[in-house]
Amino acid sequence: MFGLPLFPESASTIASEVDALFFFLLGISGFFSLLIAGLIVTFAIKYRRRKADDVGTQVHGGLLLEVVWTVIPLLITMVIFFWGAKVYFVMASPPEETINMYVVGKQWMWKVQHITGQREINQLHVPVGRPVKLIMTSEDVLHDFSIPAFRVKADVIPGRFVEIWFEPTKPGTYQIFCAEYCGTQHSGMTGQVVVMEPVAYQTWLSGGAPEGSLASTGERLFTELACNTCHRPGSQQRGPILNNVFGSQVTLADGTMLTADEGYIRESILMPAAKITAGYQPVMPAFQGLVSEEQLLALIEYIKSLSPQGQEGAQP
Ligand code: CUA
Repeated sequence: MFGLPLFPESASTIASEVDALFFFLLGISGFFSLLIAGLIVTFAIKYRRRKADDVGTQVHGGLLLEVVWTVIPLLITMVIFFWGAKVYFVMASPPEETINMYVVGKQWMWKVQHITGQREINQLHVPVGRPVKLIMTSEDVLHDFSIPAFRVKADVIPGRFVEIWFEPTKPGTYQIFCAEYCGTQHSGMTGQVVVMEPVAYQTWLSGGAPEGSLASTGERLFTELACNTCHRPGSQQRGPILNNVFGSQVTLADGTMLTADEGYIRESILMPAAKITAGYQPVMPAFQGLVSEEQLLALIEYIKSLSPQGQEGAQP
């Protein structure tokens, strides 16, 4: 844009929309700053005190003037509001079919976990022209995941999942930043997104996932942690059967309903007593402190894989 090196490259479908709004705001602010500064100078000269005994004229209201300076700013701010809301809704609503990846922030690195099993640190490989959704959390303090070239940015908060999505439009390498001060090495908490042609991306994917897909890692953990002793049909069953739970409506013991999403599954593993499913006893031990964020992602992905209908997101 104008060849300004200050401005980041624009490499996602949302980038031009964000830029258009940004330059509109910049234009409006510039116009009114100049207008007001110009009027201050002009009036200071035109209405200056010319004689020592000059007395100003008192002005009592001017209805037309007041209506004009109320209505014009109102119209301008409404344009900004509706335009901003439109861009916000696009950014907040990922398409139906996305390639999902998990991102875990920690002091001071970004850990990326692909559904297919690959892991990366401070790197994120994605294909060009496909919408990608990042499901992100932090294992220690507040971070903020930002890719300026894609115009996406979100706080990454311990104890919950936040999502962003983007569709890269140009192959290349783009910078990832942490945009929230998070400790001494905050400025070093950077990385690269590598946007690849689809064929190259497939080659990269087939390159290595030694432990199999994320869901299969989760399935192994499910057995290792003995989750399967209670969450299975039979006389030993003490917890809900998890098939088709993800994405479904769950009724809790107190009668409230909620949709089983990543955040709910996460909480139900770490603090099972927080939300008990109707018809079950609060007998499950808490796994807070016993499973890492990465293990949680694997377990969540396994539980998602048991719900083919409720599973949003496509495999690459
Ligand atoms: Cu992480 Cu700043």
